[in-house]
Amino acid sequence: MSEIIFGNISEIEESKVISKRFGRNKIAVSKYKNNIYAFKDACTHDNAPLDQGTIEDCVITCPRHGAKFDITNGNVLAPPAILPLAIYKVIIENDIVKVIIED
Ligand code: FES
Repeated sequence: MSEIIFGNISEIEESKVISKRFGRNKIAVSKYKNNIYAFKDACTHDNAPLDQGTIEDCVITCPRHGAKFDITNGNVLAPPAILPLAIYKVIIENDIVKVIIED
């Protein structure tokens, strides 16, 4: 198990995406209704970086071909993606946001 620290929860704005590299992958977080959600920063259609896309409420839109995902559960909301987005557990300890990656 690994932890990625994303800093203080107060520094993460609603409707913004913050991405960090983790090995060969990138992991992103976003705040929606005061909760933090973490997901793999790669579209399941063709690996486009989702942090370059747009986010509205809990829906992120891929910048390349427009697939949409619900960041709260990874579900696909619009094609051409078919596979759900990987999502990760988030822990907040002393206001510090940590994403847990199971090995
Ligand atoms: S790479 Fe995201 S929709 Fe094609």
